[in-house]
Amino acid sequence: MAATISIRNVSRRFGETWALRPVDLEVAAGEFIALVGPSGCGKTTLLRIVADLVEPSSGEVRIGPDTARRARQERLLGLVSQRPAVLPWKRAIDDVRFTQRIAGKVGFDPGKVLREFGLEGHEAKRARQLSGGMLQRVNIASAIAHDPAVLLMDEPFAALDEMKREEIGEWFDRELAMRPKTVLFVTHHIDEAVMLADRLLVFSPAPGRVLEVVDVPVPRPRDVSFRQDPRFVAIAAHVRGLLMHRQAA
Ligand SMILES: Nc1ncnc2c1ncn2[C@@H]1O[C@H](COP(=O)(O)OP(=O)(O)OP(=O)(O)O)[C@@H](O)[C@H]1O
Ligand SMILES: [Mg+2]
Repeated sequence: MAATISIRNVSRRFGETWALRPVDLEVAAGEFIALVGPSGCGKTTLLRIVADLVEPSSGEVRIGPDTARRARQERLLGLVSQRPAVLPWKRAIDDVRFTQRIAGKVGFDPGKVLREFGLEGHEAKRARQLSGGMLQRVNIASAIAHDPAVLLMDEPFAALDEMKREEIGEWFDRELAMRPKTVLFVTHHIDEAVMLADRLLVFSPAPGRVLEVVDVPVPRPRDVSFRQDPRFVAIAAHVRGLLMHRQAA
């Protein structure tokens, strides 16, 4: 199940400082949107507004027909934070069960989710006994365990090395093909964004506004060979150009 997201004239100021200039975006059900832009341009702020963790200074968000507040209350959202709170002694399986208990909703069998995430045999391990890649998969498993319609991910693969990052990205792409969700995905990694997303929202430096919405008109999930595809190369170069030009300006 996936839901539409409608972001209408959403901005945020903290005191006198603009964290985010007004953003408008209509996201189709099942669409994957990557948010890229320099540090401090308001990516996390926008994600947290959609998650109903920050109030917008203007505008409104709808998840399907619901307000962000209602969507949160109805447990339609899954969130992978930029700084996940990891309790070192917590077992992987309990982490997944915990999300379901909070949501009051069992979407999937926690053991099955972890097995499908390649964590068979690690279910009873504690967070401190898992590698960074495994831990991140547990985080994602926990975020989707109650089967949310919308998944909000803030630099979920940032702690991983390049190889692991590509591997988990491919795995995640296939995972989404099995259980479609609408995704907002923040990353600093342009190649990762082009590999995974249907559209990229490219932000200017702070105070952030959307410079351009860039289409990646290639069906998902995508094969690794897409990295060599001329369309991939051209889109990544275009996005890099947008960001570099604006940084220098
Ligand atoms: N609670 C807050 N109070 C005051 N200012 C804030 C708060 N949250 C964010 N900001 C400011 O809003 C701006 C945008 O922050 P945000 O975290 O959204 O950026 P970001 O694009 O996610 O950056 P990064 O890529 O470094 O994670 C920054 O100037 C930040 O200092
Ligand atoms: Mg951030």
